[in-house]
Amino acid sequence: MTTANAYCRIPVKLILKLGDKFGYDAYLKLSDSKIIKISHSNEPIKDAIVRYHETKGVQDIYVTKEDYLKIIDGFKAQLTHKLFDPETTAEDKVDIIEKCYSMIKESLVSIGFNQDTIDMAKKISESSTRLVKESQNVFTLLKKFSENCEEELKKSLIIGYLCSGMIETFDWGTETIKEKCSLAALLCDVLLNSAQIKEIQILSQSLPLKPESLEKINNHPQNVVQALANEDWISKESLVMIEQHHEEQSGKGFPMGLPHTRISQLSAIFIVAMRFSDLLFENNFNFREKDKMLGALRRKYNLGVFKKATLSLIEIIGTNES
Ligand SMILES: [Fe+2]
Repeated sequence: MTTANAYCRIPVKLILKLGDKFGYDAYLKLSDSKIIKISHSNEPIKDAIVRYHETKGVQDIYVTKEDYLKIIDGFKAQLTHKLFDPETTAEDKVDIIEKCYSMIKESLVSIGFNQDTIDMAKKISESSTRLVKESQNVFTLLKKFSENCEEELKKSLIIGYLCSGMIETFDWGTETIKEKCSLAALLCDVLLNSAQIKEIQILSQSLPLKPESLEKINNHPQNVVQALANEDWISKESLVMIEQHHEEQSGKGFPMGLPHTRISQLSAIFIVAMRFSDLLFENNFNFREKDKMLGALRRKYNLGVFKKATLSLIEIIGTNES
């Protein structure tokens, strides 16, 4: 039987990048129940065929789940090696991180975690932390790449970067804890699509959401935690951050509406970093607005772990506000 959910999605732009190395059966999805083969594994897919479909508005080509796992395996070896090569430019690293991220996301949603996906998630978490750390100005770097990089990935890189800096201001801050934060930033929204992530922005502005999206959005922190709960490679701290990343000091966050006294210090750091990242995007990375942005956060987050988190952000970003 041909059902589209037996297949995994690969972006057309990625197939074009793989070129001759893509020697798998390739399929085109016509509807949820109809999928047709456009290329056979015994010969590499032709660029012309992919480009033809691209001109018709096709953004993704499909492969069987079995082949997808082989592609991830090949990717892990080929691309993660480049990530740690000092000769690879920052532009190429962001490009690789973005592609690995989209494959991790597809793999988790369609197949579930496997060892190769886990290894890739850890490697891109480590390399993205290193990339932003080595960058002179991460905001300029990420803004520059905005056309090549999905917004959700840019946000996760920025959150990971900010958390790393904020954690350093605490005497318990270590490299291991920073990596736990980066991994949480990478995975917290992995089960949501881009449209649903945009809808969270609507939610944060107290506007009505589409009813069909509400449940999926409300439950996404716990859904991710459930998907990862039996994985021994992810720490309890990362899972708590993922579970609490939409909670609020006011107790009006979701999904649990926890009071601020039950939110961990690491989660508060994560939440404040996430809010600052939202403000950066809203202000188009205009650093002249930074005092206004930090002032808004200081007024919003003024209790307990949230106050400490905001002060640590101010310490690393700097403000003229008294
Ligand atoms: Fe989220």
